[in-house]
Amino acid sequence: MNTYSRIPVAFTRGERVWVWDESGKKYLDALAGIAVNTLGHGHPKLTRAIAEQSSRLIHTSNLYRIAEQERLADKLAAISGMDSVFFCNSGCEANEAAIKLARLYGHGKGVEGPGIVVMDKAFHGRTLATLSATGNRKVQQGFEPLVPGFVRVPFNDIESVRQVASHDKSVVAVLVEPIQGEGGINISSMQYLRDLRELCDRQGWFL
Ligand SMILES: Cc1ncc(COP(=O)(O)O)c(C=O)c1O
Repeated sequence: MNTYSRIPVAFTRGERVWVWDESGKKYLDALAGIAVNTLGHGHPKLTRAIAEQSSRLIHTSNLYRIAEQERLADKLAAISGMDSVFFCNSGCEANEAAIKLARLYGHGKGVEGPGIVVMDKAFHGRTLATLSATGNRKVQQGFEPLVPGFVRVPFNDIESVRQVASHDKSVVAVLVEPIQGEGGINISSMQYLRDLRELCDRQGWFL
């Protein structure tokens, strides 16, 4: 299925920051997946851990406890200062979970149709809820009806979020990329993010 317009290059191997295509041409990998191969290619600790684990036990499902996952969750919680961890396979799955948690939180507070503030030019993924939260018609086109419950405002504009806060009592969360990638490299200011944090805390909204 044609989901991405692909560049006609296929890579066959990689070493740290370098990758080689089928003809043996060497490239500096400045893309790193789409910014996900943070340890580069062939990192010996990573390849050893993958090989050892997959040879010991490949998969047991979420129906059982997973000791390694619990250890990782503890570590992530300690580093982030948060108390729970949700493991998932992709960015859109993470955002779907965030949207569901925000709605659950809203219903818990007695809000009938909980809303989430999202931004112009945002990109949150290609599942139905995340493409509805995305601020780009191209991503949404052909997949209507969209998932309701998103209130769109201009990016990096705290006044517009304050206005929503003043009149829309159904809002329970704000979903924002600190740096928009797909929408252009749009960088929000530190002050905007501080103001958002303060507003969300005051309103009792998730951020
Ligand atoms: C900001 C942002 N959110 C969500 C996603 C969706 O992630 P995935 O493609 O892993 O579902 C992306 C993907 O590029 C992204 O850049």
